[in-house]
Amino acid sequence: MFSAAPLEATSKPELYLELAEQARGLLHGERDRIANAANFAALVYHALPDLNWAGFYFFDGNELVVGPFQGQPACIRIALGAGVCGTAAATRQTQVVRDVNAFPGHIACDSASRSEIVVPLYDGERLIGVWDVDSPRLARFDADDRAGMERLAGIFVDSLRAA
Ligand code: SME
Repeated sequence: MFSAAPLEATSKPELYLELAEQARGLLHGERDRIANAANFAALVYHALPDLNWAGFYFFDGNELVVGPFQGQPACIRIALGAGVCGTAAATRQTQVVRDVNAFPGHIACDSASRSEIVVPLYDGERLIGVWDVDSPRLARFDADDRAGMERLAGIFVDSLRAA
């Protein structure tokens, strides 16, 4: 059984490197999207400080639909281009939002959320969905979080196509 070793990182980049290692181990040998998404969300949610939501929205061919997550119940469907999630999916760019109240069109699911990062998940040209993480702390996510979350999201996408 997988058990997450305590993370000993002294810097944020180091923390993400260790977390990436754990994520690779956790998803290794399994391709099921729901299983991997659920375990991935649980791993990240419990490993990083100051989060109140961490999870997936998957593209159903028309819009984004909530997938496995940790945190309070969330909005179910988000149109492409809407909110932070729909913007990440439509632009293919990670969205780092230091103040959700200042983001035009932000969709409030948990009123505790103050900042947010959303990484688009693409397998080549195919939109899979987005990886969305919220914090109750203003400006919780910086460039190190962007790099770390993009690395982690890549491990999730890779796990779906591994032989
Ligand atoms: N805030 C997101 C909606 C999803 S929740 O944060 C879980 C958005 O604006 O797309």
